[in-house]
Amino acid sequence: MEKDFSVIDYEVQDNIAVIVVKNPPVNALSFSVRAGLLHFLMKAEKSKEVCGIIIACEGRTFIAGADISEFGRKPQEPDLPELLDYLDRTKKPVLAEMHGTALGGGLELALCCNYRIASKNARFGLPEVNLGLIPGAGGTQRLPRLIGIEKSLAMVTSGSPVGSTDAYKCGLVDQLSGENLRCDSLNFIKDIIETESVHPSISLKTKPIVNDEETQTILKTYRSQVRKRKRGFIAPEYNIRSIQASLELEFRDGLKFERKLFDELMEGEQSKAQQYLFFAERQANKIPDLDSKIKPVDIQKVVVIGGGLMGGGIAMCMANAGISVTIIESSKKFLDRCWKNITANYQNTQKKGRLSQEQVKNRLCLIDVSLEFEKVSDADLVIEAVFENMQLKKDIFRRVGKLAKKNAILASNTSALDLNTLSESSGRPQDVIGLHFFSPANVMRLLEVVRAQKTSVSVIYTCMKLAKIIKKIPVLVGVCPGFVGNRILFARQEQAMRLAMQGIDIERIDRLIYEFGFPMGPFQTADLIGLDLGWEKAFTNENLLVDKFCEVGRFGQKNLSGFYDYDASRKATKSELSEKLIEDFAESKGIPKRDYTDDEILDQCLLPMINEGVKIREENVVTRNSDIDVVYAHGFGWPAYRGGPMHFGRTLGSDKVLKKINYYSQFFKDRFWQTSHDFRNILDEK
Ligand SMILES: NC(=O)c1ccc[n+]([C@@H]2O[C@H](COP(=O)([O-])OP(=O)(O)OC[C@H]3O[C@@H](n4cnc5c(N)ncnc54)[C@H](O)[C@@H]3O)[C@@H](O)[C@H]2O)c1
Repeated sequence: MEKDFSVIDYEVQDNIAVIVVKNPPVNALSFSVRAGLLHFLMKAEKSKEVCGIIIACEGRTFIAGADISEFGRKPQEPDLPELLDYLDRTKKPVLAEMHGTALGGGLELALCCNYRIASKNARFGLPEVNLGLIPGAGGTQRLPRLIGIEKSLAMVTSGSPVGSTDAYKCGLVDQLSGENLRCDSLNFIKDIIETESVHPSISLKTKPIVNDEETQTILKTYRSQVRKRKRGFIAPEYNIRSIQASLELEFRDGLKFERKLFDELMEGEQSKAQQYLFFAERQANKIPDLDSKIKPVDIQKVVVIGGGLMGGGIAMCMANAGISVTIIESSKKFLDRCWKNITANYQNTQKKGRLSQEQVKNRLCLIDVSLEFEKVSDADLVIEAVFENMQLKKDIFRRVGKLAKKNAILASNTSALDLNTLSESSGRPQDVIGLHFFSPANVMRLLEVVRAQKTSVSVIYTCMKLAKIIKKIPVLVGVCPGFVGNRILFARQEQAMRLAMQGIDIERIDRLIYEFGFPMGPFQTADLIGLDLGWEKAFTNENLLVDKFCEVGRFGQKNLSGFYDYDASRKATKSELSEKLIEDFAESKGIPKRDYTDDEILDQCLLPMINEGVKIREENVVTRNSDIDVVYAHGFGWPAYRGGPMHFGRTLGSDKVLKKINYYSQFFKDRFWQTSHDFRNILDEK
């Protein structure tokens, strides 16, 4: 590739070479940037006129990491380690001038400079762990030599950035700038040149860091923390091992060790899955038939109808993003309950130190509660979150359709009702959309944005943009029973129930799914959701196992008895009664007992999920397979290191998966085991 130095500006001011990266939007370390930096560093190093060097960036941020478009490709030289090696050996003092976010390779580059200055709102992080990796360009060897083991472990295992005050306190940056960053940088480096003859370089600290009892305790603490918090992920442990190497190895050997670990992770399945999800999330934002002329509507005022579990949480999402919101309830009693829940929720967050009193006050100020339905008339967006009842929702949409202003968006949070029918009842179906939040709505990041038959593209576009503002991960889906997430979950739950009816211990099934990486198994999930969801005494279904549980008043965690028994702290124990209910039910239906291996049990729970995903894709309910994976990783606990059901299925091999599905379809003659004719082509789609 031709070297293109237009992404770098170079000028000499008062004997200081100022090298400025101009690679919007985030000054990623692309091939051109690496080549340009190397070229101009060499030029500055050779120049007789230059006494010191500043590396800075134009635009909103310092270098915020690698160029993601180069991921998975062989890097063109110079690669980052080569550039950093040169930077390390530069004789003239180099200052990194940082603003915005210095992330990943950007921070690793700054660590190779002799000095670091930053603006007060800058942030610094090594987020590689989120992609199943470790920093691979010296980060794990330089950072602990600069700021110590504990802080380094915190940064690399969480992947979360630290702010400038913290960074200054721990010595990550040497100076925080006032109003004029460039002016402060120039003054800093000129002073240094005048006063210091030797300039600090982390790579000169070749010896390992002191490895005492205290450091060993810190390592142990982090290991046990990440084992719990990041169960199943291997990258956090690799990050710890690499930081640990700085205690045991000379600097250059440490770099080699870090590279070896990095390469191992890069080649492994976990990082591939996590990188896949990273791109999948970005892809999910792309709306296929979007006309570039369409502009999103500015949402300033939201009305939520129904202030129950979901409505309250949705209102909090809006207030958290600075959007004013009114909750409309049907009676004073429910209105008071709603307000009490919201304030208690915010106060808890404040007690945990995650919000200040001032922040809580500001957020509560943005939430209004009312009994006046007419308030929908000045909303830009109305979100209905009343009981899951078609007639009630239709009435609400009819009234909202008449009252809401022109161009207002009318959304429903329904989980299962037909959005096409609902949208017609508003009289303005082009304005109607589904915004399917998950519980707790103020915490869960996934948002299924449901496109009905007549929803306008402008409404979809606005809602996808709004989702970002309220910090959700939106996935555009079409109308089908249960949309994407619940529909696939249902397939797994059905087969798990069937395994239980064949005499497989529910604890064993739950354990296997947990060990696969889900936060809990199918029966724990069922108990948590509530076995009575959608159950009515008068319409109890003889053919449903869960209805048997409801008939005897076992509703799940909510009344401490479901598939398991629960104590007051909701700790689950085995229930003889539950076992008997399952056994009696199976006997009454003439279901024979069978035994399966662990692998067969896992297959029977996971294959129907992949199969359902293929059908969803075939019906064009989603735009791409990866959209299903985003739903599953962010809303349904599919372990990110396994990518999602579609990625997992494709990695297993579409032939193998199809063969297994066909095998089980001999025994289970229902829709969960019926496949699409185009199964392999659909699953293989990238
Ligand atoms: N609970 C979940 O996990 C979950 C998840 C996703 C979606 N949903 C969907 O969200 C919707 C609400 O569910 P929820 O769990 O919050 O129910 P909920 O019972 O907690 O709340 C419903 C609220 O609507 C109010 N309401 C009823 N009629 C009203 C009217 N005419 N005007 C104003 N308010 C009225 C009720 O007083 C109640 O507070 C349902 O459609 C449900 O399917 C629920």
